[in-house]
Amino acid sequence: MKSNEFVLVLDFGGQYTQLIARRVRELGVYSEIQPFHYPLDIIRGRAPRGIILSGGPASVFENGAPQPPQGIFELGIPVLGICYGLQLIAHHLGGKVDPSARREFGKADLVIDNREDLFAGLDGSTTVWMSHGDALSKIPPGFEPIAHTSNAPICAIRNPAKKIFGVQFHPEVVHTPEGKRILGNFVFAVCGAKGDWTPDAFVDRAVDEIRARVGKSRVLCALSGGVDSSVAAVLIHKAIGDRLHCIHINTGLMRKGESESVVEAFRKQFHIPLTYIDASEDFLARLKGVMDPEQKRKIIGKAFVDIFERDAKVLESESEASHQGVFEFLAQGTLYPDVIESVSFKGPSVTIKTHHNVGGLPERMNFKLIEPFRELFKDEVREVGRRLGLPEELVGRHPFPGPGLAVRILGEITREKLDLLRDADEILLNEIRKVGLYDDIWQAFAVLLPVRSVGVMGDGRTYESVLALRAVTSVDGMTADWARIPPDVLATISNRIINELRGINRVVYDISSKPPATIEWE
Ligand code: XMP
Repeated sequence: MKSNEFVLVLDFGGQYTQLIARRVRELGVYSEIQPFHYPLDIIRGRAPRGIILSGGPASVFENGAPQPPQGIFELGIPVLGICYGLQLIAHHLGGKVDPSARREFGKADLVIDNREDLFAGLDGSTTVWMSHGDALSKIPPGFEPIAHTSNAPICAIRNPAKKIFGVQFHPEVVHTPEGKRILGNFVFAVCGAKGDWTPDAFVDRAVDEIRARVGKSRVLCALSGGVDSSVAAVLIHKAIGDRLHCIHINTGLMRKGESESVVEAFRKQFHIPLTYIDASEDFLARLKGVMDPEQKRKIIGKAFVDIFERDAKVLESESEASHQGVFEFLAQGTLYPDVIESVSFKGPSVTIKTHHNVGGLPERMNFKLIEPFRELFKDEVREVGRRLGLPEELVGRHPFPGPGLAVRILGEITREKLDLLRDADEILLNEIRKVGLYDDIWQAFAVLLPVRSVGVMGDGRTYESVLALRAVTSVDGMTADWARIPPDVLATISNRIINELRGINRVVYDISSKPPATIEWE
């Protein structure tokens, strides 16, 4: 789904690399992240409008510090180095970088010394976000300084003839208020990009590509009802019509009314062929007596694959019998962050949770994959969904984990607990919607704890379950903070849950951030 023009971001392992690409795309220019060792020949062949070297945790002096492909500064393509990227420019082009005695982290006042290109349209000084150890002590030949701070006499440099720029600060983060303008200056004024990256253009290109790839074949889509699979299904349907067939598996671990609304929307509103499978009994039976979170996830993942495989086979034979062709492809809602995770410069990381999605399906079933959102961020998928006419209620939905309510009932899962949690969850979400907080919150949900506490109701003693409420704000789910829901709203939610539902006599609010906690409790 490539645009004709793009800006290449080389990833040196910086924590904000994804943000760079997002900001550039917000400017209407397609931006793609590749690992720092992306081969020069390929870069030359693909001819990006510009190249941005990201920040990174390394020091240019370290043995094995990641280096850009040799010759990158001689391609004639404009380059912007950010933080570590700036230090690489200095290191490779004859400047000097000194290990700083102390790290500089946080806001700084940048004084602009030249407003001709990168800083065009900015005031004399502006706030910027710094996060670095090393700093420049000598400017490379052919370069000139264009901004400074009281701490960093060389905070930004340029070589206008070669169109190479470097900044010590991070223009991509929100703490640099003029950051987007600075990136815009680079992308438009320096690189000469036109800005043809829009959701509509994406849809047009995606439709053409899907049509060309699928040909006369058919596509199967495991539709969970979440944003990614829903938007994928509607997009693919736009491209190939009823040669797309969706399967929705009700795991019994869904939120209240969720399966029903998926079936209703896809069959009646979008007119997309859909097979509905109620597998709740099967899932519950397999989960009986299981307490361990990882085991739950594995069982659910396996059950999903088993059931999908069984029903896909039925569909295949029906399709063949009616001469509608074979299901050669499986649609998946893979997003860009998942793709970057697998290719970027990353240190070893441990598995915190085994995330379950339908990833096990293609290997078992020899499907080819259709992943229309491999290059999109979640908010871009939402925007595409809006352009395709999906209702706001669907595209603006909070994320919901593959294993569903199973990881929100700590301990053993039973139908009674599931029903109780569904009701509590519905009250929480309705109240948050009512006060207009839903869209400000990344995710809000209830967690049923395997703990009982004493209460009093009327004149009687109760001994019932404790329910935790969790609501977080986040940009990408990687880090999160607990949402500051007003106490009055929390009071209403708690009162309604305790008064309207039988089995819960105490409600607590989770005030942990991620890290060190995670968003889900299991
Ligand atoms: P955690 O709990 O790891 O969650 O902080 C981060 C985000 O991922 C979602 N999540 C999952 N999504 N399968 C999924 O598809 C899973 O097994 C899973 N576990 C967590 C979680 O809801 C949050 O948005």
